[in-house]
Amino acid sequence: MTHLRLGVNIDHVATVRNARGSAYPDPVRAAKLAEDAGADGITAHLREDRRHITDGDIDRLMATLTRPLNFEMAATAEMQAIALRHRPRAVCIVPEKREERTTEGGLDVAADVARLTDYIAPLRDAGCRVSMFIGHDPRQIEASARIGAEVVELHTGHYCDLHAEGRLADRDAELAALAGGARLAHSLGLEVHAGHGLTYDTVAPVAAFPEVRELNIGHFLIGEAIFVGLKEAIAGMRRQMDRARVSSA
Ligand code: PXP
Repeated sequence: MTHLRLGVNIDHVATVRNARGSAYPDPVRAAKLAEDAGADGITAHLREDRRHITDGDIDRLMATLTRPLNFEMAATAEMQAIALRHRPRAVCIVPEKREERTTEGGLDVAADVARLTDYIAPLRDAGCRVSMFIGHDPRQIEASARIGAEVVELHTGHYCDLHAEGRLADRDAELAALAGGARLAHSLGLEVHAGHGLTYDTVAPVAAFPEVRELNIGHFLIGEAIFVGLKEAIAGMRRQMDRARVSSA
């Protein structure tokens, strides 16, 4: 099976920093450490309200990283201008609501095909690989292919929530739907990524989908780093991913 990349999301290092308005902990230092620990890429979400990652963080990440930056952003004019200035390797378009605690659902690509087609074209022309963060609904997957996205990232948050709530039959149904989504996306020529809410307990079944090429994981890893350090937290996730990949091959 193909190598499964791990993108480490460092947003919540910035969340802790911003809680005190201090200069530490520094998300760029965390990103460097994550690279040294084997992350294949770094993911950062510049939200409209700058609640964690700031514009200065993106400047420094672009100047410092040796692995690709996956720049998560809402489909706004402001974010498009920032992405075009930096030209990160990857851009992931996510839905964003000011009042939400985290990215709660996938993007409604099907409802916004014309606008999103025009929106992502300059990003693609600038050399960014554009990904759409969506649920497993076939309509959203087909619409993502239609607008010219190269990648879809399937939202695993609902699957992880069902696991945490112990609703195991519902969890397994959600997992089956995600697997179907991965197959459909792959058959349409889209590269398949997945992420949101993944932990050591939930990562293996998703890592085992043969179509999935990349997982983006943040909150759990940054939390685990409090106890074992970032390097060990990432190494532990890498082991889980590799084991799942080998045993399903
Ligand atoms: N992928 C996308 C598109 C996201 O928006 C997020 C959260 O910022 C993640 C992955 C990572 O989710 P988590 O922090 O829950 O691991």
